[in-house]
Amino acid sequence: MKRIFTLFVALATVCVVMAAECVIVPRPASFEPQKGKVTLTSKSVVYVADKSLVRPATMFCSNVASEKGLQLSVVEKHPKGKGVIALSIDKSLGEEEYLLDVTKQGVVIKGGSEKAVFYGLQSLRQVVFHSKGNAKKVSVECMTVKDKPHFGYRGGMLDVCRHFFSVDEVKKYIDILALHKVNRFHWHLTEDQGWRIEIKKYPELTKIGSVRKETATYTTNPKNGRTMISGYDGKPHGGFFTQDEVREIVRYATERYIDVIPEIDMPGHMVAALATYPELGCTKGPYEVRKTWGIAKDILCAGRESTFEFVEGVLEEVLALFPSKYIHIGGDEAPKHRWKVCPDCQKRIQEEGLKDEHELQSYFMKRVEKFLAKHGRSIIGWDEILEGGVSKTATVMAWRGAKRGILAAKMGNKVIMTPYHYCYLDYAQTSNRVANGEPISGGRNGKRPLTLRKAYSFDPYDQLNEQERKVILGVQGNMWTEYVATFDHLQQMILPRTAAIAEVGWSYGNQNYDDFARRMHLLRKLYDKCGYKYAPYFFNGIE
Ligand code: ACM
Ligand code: ZN
Repeated sequence: MKRIFTLFVALATVCVVMAAECVIVPRPASFEPQKGKVTLTSKSVVYVADKSLVRPATMFCSNVASEKGLQLSVVEKHPKGKGVIALSIDKSLGEEEYLLDVTKQGVVIKGGSEKAVFYGLQSLRQVVFHSKGNAKKVSVECMTVKDKPHFGYRGGMLDVCRHFFSVDEVKKYIDILALHKVNRFHWHLTEDQGWRIEIKKYPELTKIGSVRKETATYTTNPKNGRTMISGYDGKPHGGFFTQDEVREIVRYATERYIDVIPEIDMPGHMVAALATYPELGCTKGPYEVRKTWGIAKDILCAGRESTFEFVEGVLEEVLALFPSKYIHIGGDEAPKHRWKVCPDCQKRIQEEGLKDEHELQSYFMKRVEKFLAKHGRSIIGWDEILEGGVSKTATVMAWRGAKRGILAAKMGNKVIMTPYHYCYLDYAQTSNRVANGEPISGGRNGKRPLTLRKAYSFDPYDQLNEQERKVILGVQGNMWTEYVATFDHLQQMILPRTAAIAEVGWSYGNQNYDDFARRMHLLRKLYDKCGYKYAPYFFNGIE
C-alpha cells in the first residue's frame, strides 16, 4: 500500500512538472493546466462568430506571424476539423471578462465584449509565443483560463511636451499598453516647455508655443547626488500633432480598445501658451517657452474673462477630437504668487466671495468642469484640485502620495491612484542610479528609486475601508519625459515597470511577486521579439 502511495505521489509530481505553467502577464484570475496539447499549423484558422471580431482576430494573426512566424488566417464560417481558434462574444460574461480554453480539439475564446475577446487574444498571443514550435507547427499545451481585471481603469500616461515623440512612436507606446491589457492612454499634451496639439482657432500656439529655443542639460552633482543644470544644448526643440494626426492616434488606440484621455493642463504649466498669447498671464509678459524643468510662477490669469474664452476655445476643439468621457484638466503645481498681486485676480476673489487664491483655483476648475459637463464630459484633475474645494463629480488623480487619494476617497470622490513613489516611471530604477549606470533622472541619487519590485508592491486600497475602496477606479503609470529625449530611452523607462503596474491593476488580490518575476523572464523574450527596449536591471538581478 505504501509503495502504491509513493508511486502515486511521484506520478503526480511528474504531472505537475509537465503541466503547462502560466506564462501570461498580467496574471489571470484563474489558470488551470490541462492534459494534452493541440497543434496549430499554417492551415489553422481563427474563426470569428461575430463580424466585429474580424479586426482583433486579424491583429492577432499579424502578431503571431511576426512573433512566431506562423501564418494563420481569419474565417467567418466555422470550418471542420481540429486546431481551430474560435472567437465569440458571450454576453453572460463581464465587459472585460474572457474565457480561454485550449483543448486537444482546438482553442475557444469567449469574451463579454469585443474588448474582452481582444484581451483573450493578448493572452493567447503570449501563450503561442512561448509554446514549442516554429513557423510550420506550434504545439500549445491545454489549459483553461478564466480571467477578468480587478480595476476598470488601467492607465498609462505619456508626456510628449518635455520631449516630443512622433506619431509612430506614440503608436508603439500604445502597442506596449495593449500588450499589457492597459485600457487608458492619458496623453499629456500641453506644458511650460511646449504646446503639442494643433488648435485651429489659435494657430500661433503651434507656431510659437511648440518650440523652445534650447534645452537645459543636466548632470548629477557629485557632492549631494542631486540632479543639476550643467548647461544648455543650444538647439531648438519642437514638434506638435496636427488634428489629423491626433485623430489617427485616437483611431489606432480605439482599435486596441484603449480610450485616449487628453490632458490640457491649467491654470499652471501654461507658459508655452503664455509665450504665444502674453495677455493670458497676470503680468502680460513677456514670456518665453521654458528651457528648464520645474515649476513656473507664471500661470493663466483667473481674473480676466478672456482667459476662460481661450480655455473654452481650446477645449471645444479638443472635445471634437477625443470621444473620451474624461477630459483631464490638470490643476497641478499652480503657484499663487501672480494671483496674489494681480488686480484682476483679486477683483475676482472679491466679487465671487472667495476666501483666498486656493478658492480661486477651485473656482477656475469648477467653471471649466461646468463647461465640459454641458458637453457631456467629466473631468479628471491632479490631486491639487482638492485644495480650495473640489466638486463631487471630479475624478481625482492622486500623485503626491497615496494619502491624497485616500483623502479624496474619504470625501467620496472617484480616484485614480498614481502616487509617485510607486507609479512615476521617470524615477530611477535602482537604489544607486549613478553606480548602476542608469541615465540621469530627476531627484536625488539613491532616494526613492522605483524598482520593479516596488512598483509591484503598490496597494491602491491601503488604509481604505470597504466603502471607500469602491471609488478607487484604478491605477496608472506616468511617463514624464524631462530627462527622456529618445524613444529607446523611453521604452527602457516604461519596460518592464509597466508590466508591474498593469498587474497591480489587472490582478489585484491575486498577485505573487516571485511568480511575476518568473513570468517576466519569459515576457522579456517577447519584448525582444517585438523590438522593444527595456531596462536591464531587474533581469540582471540589480535593484
Ligand atoms: C505632476 O507630477 N505634476 C502631476
Ligand atoms: Zn490675474
